[in-house]
Amino acid sequence: MTAEVGPIAEAVEVLRAGGLVGFPTETVYGLGADAANPAALQRLFAVKGRPTDHPVIVHVARAAQLDELGRDVPDVAHVLATACWPGPLTLVVGRRADRVAAAATGGRDTVGIRVPDHPVAIALLDAFGGGIAAPSANRFGRVSPTTAQHVRDDLGADVDLVLDGGPSAVGVESTIVDVTGERPVILRVGGIPDARLAELVGGRLAHRTSGEVAAPGTLPSHYAPNARVELVAAESVEARAGHLRAEGLKVGVLDAPSDAGDYARSLYHRLRALDRDGVDVILAVPPDAAEGIAAAVADRLRRAASAR
Ligand code: TXA
Ligand code: MG
Repeated sequence: MTAEVGPIAEAVEVLRAGGLVGFPTETVYGLGADAANPAALQRLFAVKGRPTDHPVIVHVARAAQLDELGRDVPDVAHVLATACWPGPLTLVVGRRADRVAAAATGGRDTVGIRVPDHPVAIALLDAFGGGIAAPSANRFGRVSPTTAQHVRDDLGADVDLVLDGGPSAVGVESTIVDVTGERPVILRVGGIPDARLAELVGGRLAHRTSGEVAAPGTLPSHYAPNARVELVAAESVEARAGHLRAEGLKVGVLDAPSDAGDYARSLYHRLRALDRDGVDVILAVPPDAAEGIAAAVADRLRRAASAR
């Protein structure tokens, strides 16, 4: 037995017993429960502090499982899954009621499915066999975790086991595409760029990233640190910081790394660090580009800024 086999086997036991496991993915850390066990899912929602009508994503080890958990999966979903999995893409398809409990999807008859691109996640999913329902492993509405320590900081004893797979390589959540309609629609921008999806589908996808769609990641109050977040152009940071400091406020600055991938990777970590420093206001400089991973960073910053 190698050193890695122990924790995975233990995590599988925890899941089979209805417990909760924190695990790494390439996007952010997930808080996992057996997707077919309603009692485990009930505990998952309670620990997360999430309204029970908000669906969670179900993770699987292999693209072939899309048809095991999903119903009436259209061709376009297979095209996207084949090209993007393992990877930061979630596909919303019809739900097979015998494989995914209604509690995982807030009672709706669709389910979001993805194959994460992380060796520890894949080892866990492979050993477990079934789907693992997992929202990001933070309390509802807060900043997502990108390290095992973030998960422990947020959830403490409420999580039975945390698998440490190092810092998340992408750093922002998956792109969510709903393929249940006539045309695929983007519900959340994330790790897979729009342009890549357009290439695969043969045309740009429509967005439905706010409004009536019941997707909690699209609530404005999401991804928020404790400090108030203001979006500020790079050239205005100094003046704005001076103004706020004159008011007696403690100010933190989130500058924009020139590489958007670096920005995504460091975003949640830096927001957490600023919170730990006890700043009142975070001045965040949005990324220069509006495309690709930069769009996901800009989206999360906007939501953080409109949180209060
Ligand atoms: O990268 C990710 O997607 C991470 C890692 C852990 O995989 N997970 C994540 O989960 O961000 P969570 O629960 O924080 O966000 C899941 C998003 C929510 O906005 C939810 O509404 C949407 O997925 N979602 C899940 N199932 C859905 C469904 N059936 N219909 C519409 N939206 C769905
Ligand atoms: Mg989340």
